[in-house]
Amino acid sequence: MTSPRITVDTIRSMKARGKKIAALTAYDYPMARLLDEAGVPLLLVGDSLGMVVLGYPDTTHVTMADMEHHTRAVARCRPRALFGADLPYHSYETPEEALHNARRLVDAGADYVKAEGGRDIAARVRAIVSAGIPFMGHIGMLPQHVLEEGGKYRIKGRDADGRARLLEDAAALAEAGAFAIVLELVTPAVAKEITAAVPIPTIGIGSGPDCDGQILVTHDLIGTFPWFTPRFVKPELNAGEQIRSAVKRWMQSL
Ligand code: KIV
Repeated sequence: MTSPRITVDTIRSMKARGKKIAALTAYDYPMARLLDEAGVPLLLVGDSLGMVVLGYPDTTHVTMADMEHHTRAVARCRPRALFGADLPYHSYETPEEALHNARRLVDAGADYVKAEGGRDIAARVRAIVSAGIPFMGHIGMLPQHVLEEGGKYRIKGRDADGRARLLEDAAALAEAGAFAIVLELVTPAVAKEITAAVPIPTIGIGSGPDCDGQILVTHDLIGTFPWFTPRFVKPELNAGEQIRSAVKRWMQSL
């Protein structure tokens, strides 16, 4: 008997049940299939693919065409997991554009879409959710704004203003209908506070242990992008080195 597909309600109910939500990125068919077979309930075709797959210095170069291409690849494995895709940089400037591009990602196979921002994008989130497309928020450090931050991935919520802004942004996203919110590089204390304050799951990345779930870029977890690993990640595998060694062994065997 095959187990039922994970839905938005499944993910939301995990918060209520106190069950930690594991989420990982996937950008292609084999990795999505492996992660799905491992039982990961929540997958994301993140625009981090710009760095770890396409070789760009940051996510600002990723296009809608890139996201559609990789979303289609993941969709081909028909994951049991709930899987979504990022709206890339400058693809959701108005409610109309946000909805148009969210529909393109759904047409490519995504169950949900994610975009970066809080109160500033609430009207765009409402446009997406009103059309029946599940939406995941993303606040804290926003990689699509890294150039405005001088190229630095800075921790958010360190002072009273930052804390208040994050709490208001999280509340605005929940109010606009988001089913979950990624908290990226938020101080652990503020991430804990947001998690207690909002009715929807928080999915942390570099934001301490007290979020309802955790998301990582899969390449960081398994070492397939060994040239840079964020400080908060403890890799479970050094696949990059294993690949180099396997290829050397094969060449020596010729
Ligand atoms: O682009 C991405 O992969 C992400 C997650 C790591 C949250 O936004």
